[in-house]
Amino acid sequence: MTDSIHAAERIARLRKEIEHHSRLYYSEAKPELSDYEFDRLLEQLIALERQFPDLVTPDSPSQRVGGAITKEFVSVTHHEPMLSLSNTYSLGEVEEFYNRVKKLVALEGVDEQEMVAELKFDGVAISLLYQEGLLVRGATRGDGIQGDDITVNIRTIPTIPLKIGDTGEIEVRGEVFMRKEDFEQLNESRPEEERFANPRNATAGALKLQDSAEVARRRMSFVAYYLKGIRDESTAHFSRLKLLEELGFSTGNHYKLCSELHDINEFIAEWSEKRWKLPYETDGVVLKLNAVTLWDKLGATAKSPRWAIAYKYPAQQARTVLNAVVFQVGRLGTITPVAELEPVLLAGSTVARSTLHNFDEIGRLGIMIHDRVIIEKSGEVIPKVISVVLEERPSDAQPIIIPLNCPECETPLVKPESEVSYTCPNEAECPAQIRGRLLHFASRNAMDIKSLGKALVDQLVAIKLVKDVGDLYFLQEPQLEKLERMGRKSAQNLVRALDESRAKSYERLLYALGIRHVGRATARELSQAYPSLEALMQASQEQLATVPDIGPVVAHSICDYFAKPSQTDFLEKLRAAGLQLSASETTAQVNRNFEGLTVLFTGGLDRYDRQTASELVMERGGRVVNSVSKKTGLVVAGHDAGSKLDRALKLGVRVVSEDEFEGML
Ligand code: IVH
Repeated sequence: MTDSIHAAERIARLRKEIEHHSRLYYSEAKPELSDYEFDRLLEQLIALERQFPDLVTPDSPSQRVGGAITKEFVSVTHHEPMLSLSNTYSLGEVEEFYNRVKKLVALEGVDEQEMVAELKFDGVAISLLYQEGLLVRGATRGDGIQGDDITVNIRTIPTIPLKIGDTGEIEVRGEVFMRKEDFEQLNESRPEEERFANPRNATAGALKLQDSAEVARRRMSFVAYYLKGIRDESTAHFSRLKLLEELGFSTGNHYKLCSELHDINEFIAEWSEKRWKLPYETDGVVLKLNAVTLWDKLGATAKSPRWAIAYKYPAQQARTVLNAVVFQVGRLGTITPVAELEPVLLAGSTVARSTLHNFDEIGRLGIMIHDRVIIEKSGEVIPKVISVVLEERPSDAQPIIIPLNCPECETPLVKPESEVSYTCPNEAECPAQIRGRLLHFASRNAMDIKSLGKALVDQLVAIKLVKDVGDLYFLQEPQLEKLERMGRKSAQNLVRALDESRAKSYERLLYALGIRHVGRATARELSQAYPSLEALMQASQEQLATVPDIGPVVAHSICDYFAKPSQTDFLEKLRAAGLQLSASETTAQVNRNFEGLTVLFTGGLDRYDRQTASELVMERGGRVVNSVSKKTGLVVAGHDAGSKLDRALKLGVRVVSEDEFEGML
């Protein structure tokens, strides 16, 4: 009994903490915890709830991690059709809309017309149904009449409240989207050929996934812009947005009540540039009549209501000059032509480079060096060349010549029949491919070795100190110290970081190896189906193709990777380096010296970065916090520690130096 009371308290505390950090991350874009720290909190909650299943509630953040697999989504009928909006690119048409509504409103005997101006979020529309305060259904728009019931996936989205105050039955509509940063991270973790073109596509894809645990990992967000079913039906739209906020929804916060056309134009002008600074993508402004009581009276066409309109910002374009085309060699040998442009300002940033994708694209554009070109940013995060100003082609325009040899290693290029790209086949020796593999290995989603950056990789490969990722683990400090911009301290840091990375999981290692078509999600599936590299290497193509989400192409690529004769030596090197070649719990191997201890780091640490230090504490059972209180168990004070150290001393919290901390580890 006391156990369960104690557990209930801990569960409540953890839930509060998780919700707090979730809000900081998703709604306020001011995270205080690393992803790893956040995940650990969630894991603790899940473990406790598993131990005390009676304490699980439908609104617990643990319900957001997903797990349910859906074979086919059930079709559901919307209580009222989910209409779209009529779009315009013209301010003149906005004015016409405004005047039209004004007239209609006047017919109803109302002469004060207020409009709400909101941002138009570039995501996917969904409908949420709440009954007695609980989220009971989440559905896609579908054809507007019927959509798919995707409740299991919707539940994983942190900014969608699972529980609100009891408001009877209400419907909330809004947009699911991916923040630019989350989108970039997702793309980074996927094989190049499976990357999404823009956050909207990534969101649409994620919402329809059958594995809700995978949906949870995609990190989506939600903004609400429509509320129906509240008791007081006369509540105006602006007040409804406020009400949504009170109920715990995010509205994005950027909306304005406009009483004149002038206010609307001002809002549109204000956000045309400011929107680029937002952490998510927007593509226009939506104008809605504030008086909801008149909505029905104004009615709708077959597709869109007459009381609202969407003004879309014109795609952002700029004119510049193509100075040169360089050919990049990727880690898989693919040659990508890259346009070097005369730097130009576009959508809030200076653009000097843009990918031309492949040689088919060059042919399609008919582009030549020194051409005047139009570049555009629309939806996509990276700008692209969309056309050539042919009338202004200069007399010195030069054709772009497809190289016959690899620009890095001179090996004749090949063009696999099924592909649009040329490839350098010199996988083992081409310096660009080696560099690419090393950088991928060290990247955030892979082994996360921050001190192994591009400049260092360039040098290590140029002087042939490193030929594959296995060599990294045999580097000695004296060799590193001699490198440019290195010195003793950086050399020590790198060796230490590499040392720590040996403990990174087998799943991460599988991804870090950079096998063609194996992104993070595939690496996870593989690590579960084949919990050791040994077992994976022995799997046949047919066996591999039975693993969920692995088709014949991926299976072939994995077999191909392990079949190379040089691979045996390479994998032996990884084994000798002490990397995790099987899925044994790495945490089981470390002690639990910090069990139950709350630790705060303050000031600068010399030997660890904050993230690593925090992970070391958490692996050993401790928790890491950001502010000092009486309950803090330990403060690790680095150099230049300030007010937090003072406060810790005042409160009598135990304070240790970085050396002592290391001893405790
Ligand atoms: S209101 C009946 N408000 O744009 C009106 N829609 O092009 C329902 N959208 O289907 C929509 N931001 O997916 C509304 N602030 C906003 C919006 C918004 C984005 C999307 C929504 C809609 C589409 C129409």
